[in-house]
This record gives sequence, structure tokens and C-alpha cells, in this order.
Amino acid sequence: MTVLDTQQNETIRIILGRRSVRVFEERSVEPEKVELILECAFAAPTAMNAQPCHIVTIDDKELLTKIGAANERTRMAGGAPLAFAVCVDVANYEKVHRLTDGTWMEDSACVMENILLAARALGLEGVWLQIANRPGREEVVTPMLRLPAGVRILAMALVGYGAESKAPHSGVDEARLHRNAW
Ligand SMILES: Cc1cc2nc3c(=O)[nH]c(=O)nc-3n(C[C@H](O)[C@H](O)[C@H](O)COP(=O)(O)O)c2cc1C
Repeated sequence: MTVLDTQQNETIRIILGRRSVRVFEERSVEPEKVELILECAFAAPTAMNAQPCHIVTIDDKELLTKIGAANERTRMAGGAPLAFAVCVDVANYEKVHRLTDGTWMEDSACVMENILLAARALGLEGVWLQIANRPGREEVVTPMLRLPAGVRILAMALVGYGAESKAPHSGVDEARLHRNAW
């Protein structure tokens, strides 16, 4: 295998093959897979290695249905067997690490991507459901997950066995690529 043989490179195939899948089979995700996804989630890089992200796993069907019913845009949560809500105690993060530049969102985004890629690597699919700063989402989901004061949720990764398939990504968008300078 050469470095350029992308079809043979498992990691590259997983990255290019990850797509947003919004329809899931009903079957639940094995606990060992959930644990591996969590291990990958907590391995994500964070600013100043602050590691501020907490994760609320949700496999309670009733709760997922409630989140799905909360808002037209969160509806797909009701059809997922599993979700990972990525949260940060923002007030504490800003006080302790003196990072008031919003890096908690970037930290959380890295965690989200690790979850989605790990899911794909384990034969699962997933989608990013944005919660923070979306009217009708954050204020509804926060009490449902009983998040303490000061804790914010960036997004939820909905994960499960996919019931739709999508073509993998391929190629570089030359229109958006600038070499050395724009
Ligand atoms: C920051 C961010 C927020 C997103 N929010 C949502 C969302 O709320 N609902 C949704 O269905 N998809 C959401 N997505 C998924 C995008 O729609 C999806 O990644 C995009 O359409 C590209 O498709 P792909 O993931 O299959 O490559 C979000 C993705 C990102 C990165």
C-alpha cells in the first residue's frame, strides 16, 4: 500500500465516507461501541488542553422523542436510537482558563467530529444537530437534559445504524482552494 492508495487507507475512507445520515434503524447501538465512541470523543484536541467538554449520552427513547417533538428542526432526534450531547460549563471555563473568545465552541466541534468519525468507523452513521444559538432549540433542550446553570450545549450527535446511504465525498473544490495566498 502506498500513501496515495486512498481506497486501501481505512482512516481516509472513513473521513471521506462520513455523511450526514438522518434516518436510522430502530436497533440500538451496542454498549461496547458507545464506549469506544466516548473514548474517541474525549481524545479530541482542546484549547490549552482545558478538556472542558462534558457529554450527556441519551439512549432513553422517551427523552429522544421529547427532544424530537420540541421543535421542527430537532424532529430527527425522535428517530435516533442514541445521541451524544456535547456540553461545556462555559462560565467556569471562562473563569478558570480566561478564554472568553468562544473557544469552547471549537473544542466542542472537535469532539463532535470525533464522535461522527468514530461512529462511521464502527459501522454506524450520524448527524450533527446544532443546538446552541438556534432559536427554539437550546432553551428547550437545556432543561430536558437537566444541565446545571452555566452549562451550554453546542450540539448533539445523533448516532445509529443508518437507514439511508449516501455517496462518499471525493475531490478538492478548486474554487475554494488558494495556494500560498487567496
Ligand atoms: C456546525 C454544523 C451544524 C449543523 N447543524 C445541523 C442541523 O441542525 N441539522 C441537520 O440536519 N444537519 C446539521 N448539520 C449537518 C450539515 O447539514 C451537513 O454536514 C452538510 O449538509 C454536509 O453534508 P454531509 O455531512 O453529508 O457531508 C450541521 C453541520 C455542522 C458542521
